[in-house]
Amino acid sequence: MCGIVAYIGQKDACPLLIDGIKRLDYRGYDSAGLVLIREGRLEMRRAAGRISALERKLDGDLGGATIGMAHTRWATHGPPTETNAHPHCDSSGKLAIVHNGIIENYRVLKQFLEDLGHTFDSETDTEILAKLIGHFYEGELEKAVRRALCEVRGTFGIAAVHADEPDVIVAARRGSPLIAVVGSDEYLIASDAAAIIQHTPHVIYLSDNEVAVVGRDGFHTTTLDAAPVTKEVEEIEWTLAQLDLGGHQHFMSKEIFEQPEAVRTCMRGRIDMDEGRVVLGGLSSVARELIKAKRIILTACGTAWHAGLVGEYLIEELARIPCETEYASEFRYRNPIVEDGTVVIAISQSGETIDTLAALREGRDKGAMALGIVNSVGSTIARETDAGVFLHVGPEIGVASTKAFVGQVTVLAMIAAFMGRRRHLSQSNCHAYLDALQGIPDLIEQALDLSTQTRKIAAELVEMDNWLYLGRGIQYPVALEGALKLKEISYIHAEGLPAAEMKHGPIALITEDMPVVVLAPQGHWYEKSLGNIEEVRSRGGRVIAIATEGDEQIAHLAEHVLYVPRAPELLQPLVTVIPLQLLAYHAAVLRGCDVDKPRNLAKAVTVE
Ligand code: AGP
Repeated sequence: MCGIVAYIGQKDACPLLIDGIKRLDYRGYDSAGLVLIREGRLEMRRAAGRISALERKLDGDLGGATIGMAHTRWATHGPPTETNAHPHCDSSGKLAIVHNGIIENYRVLKQFLEDLGHTFDSETDTEILAKLIGHFYEGELEKAVRRALCEVRGTFGIAAVHADEPDVIVAARRGSPLIAVVGSDEYLIASDAAAIIQHTPHVIYLSDNEVAVVGRDGFHTTTLDAAPVTKEVEEIEWTLAQLDLGGHQHFMSKEIFEQPEAVRTCMRGRIDMDEGRVVLGGLSSVARELIKAKRIILTACGTAWHAGLVGEYLIEELARIPCETEYASEFRYRNPIVEDGTVVIAISQSGETIDTLAALREGRDKGAMALGIVNSVGSTIARETDAGVFLHVGPEIGVASTKAFVGQVTVLAMIAAFMGRRRHLSQSNCHAYLDALQGIPDLIEQALDLSTQTRKIAAELVEMDNWLYLGRGIQYPVALEGALKLKEISYIHAEGLPAAEMKHGPIALITEDMPVVVLAPQGHWYEKSLGNIEEVRSRGGRVIAIATEGDEQIAHLAEHVLYVPRAPELLQPLVTVIPLQLLAYHAAVLRGCDVDKPRNLAKAVTVE
């Protein structure tokens, strides 16, 4: 999961490339590099660590180059060192590439090249690809890149330059996202829109096994075996303003506080209260088949998988269709049974998560209808599905997903009503449900007022290294999400569990040094949850209860109570998750962690 930017035009490439990878560093931030072509030679700089370390290596004499590439890395092969940072060169030292993805057959290719006398400086699969392209180079970079990529098994988003061809950049993709930007007299290649939006909103999305050749006065696209491909220029819907911190200390905090507006935008134009129904234009082409579905499989990874688990409750409750949520990384390899009438829905913020993409393809290849719930317009999953629903929550930059989670649950809540209303849900019940759904943004706003209290609780308990999160029914996925948020940004070990499962083992972990977050809002799981709180208290555990405002009883049982506004049971996850996001955020800040760029993580997981 790396970030790539390449530029050819009239402007000074160096500052432009650095600005571009800075906007992509949520994709990977353990090392970085840059290469320019100046006076027929490659000028390369690389550094371990953040992009600032690379900037310190950029001396003045790099100015004036009008072609170059830059890369920010998330290490897969070889630790994040200067030698393993990209770009990597061929044996002539004249050809350089930057790469996002994994070359699976790199050992075989390396052996082939070593037998020809090539040697290697780094531990990366990418250097092997650079040397392979160099091996096939006979004066035409485009030909050499295509020839070499035909030998490659695995995924790639690459850009390549050659010192003898200072008027061309060759880019190609399979599995890893890559877009091309057509300016008036300049062209950019990038891993995603964030890097180039300040230049133009007009982009071309490369599809798998496509090559883009950009020169100073034009570009063309072909398949890997040189068949011409005509590409449509599309418009990016995000604005540059959406990509800055907007006065917040971190993107995660900005995105947490954007959630009320994000949910409003997500629902805008999609709920017809007059008719008490949901209108999802993105599903209109498949609506007839969708409502006849016999089985729904939601597939995703990480936070999106947790949203799927909430969706399972909503779809089964409102549409009465059997629904299950599958880890994409397992579903894709499990040879799943996909009968007629099965619908596979891939849930992904980035739309580029490779396991989710593969799970979607697996379901589709087995005959299922393939739908998507995606935030990134133009992403691979969005383009490969038969139909789908965009979140419209705006760009999510913080690696820890927050507003995308509530966006995904809101879309699932709408899809459940969309199908339910067309199957058995009465207009009045659907109307009441949609009325409550439209009230959710205000309730989230109220729950955001818990920020100060969650910071106090975090300050008290932040030194404790093991936490437990318990939830019953539709709150169980919220417990999982709360635990994931704490783990991924504060590095505190946390486990989310169905509350009743605690007695079957994890209760052995409970001591007075273990904070236990129990989701216990009013509803038909309430009494049982109080029982779980008692069990934890009797072993000395430190209980933090998430409860419905006005619930005095629970205040006598829990050490800390975070009161959220009352919401209908099926929609409570959209409110109860808020204090858990805030708790994790404050814990991470108090532990001095890099909230937006947690160690070892990246925003889009485009490699297996
Ligand atoms: C969540 O905070 C994480 N960043 C991660 O679990 C994420 O949800 C997962 O990688 C799925 O990403 P996607 O929604 O872009 O497919």
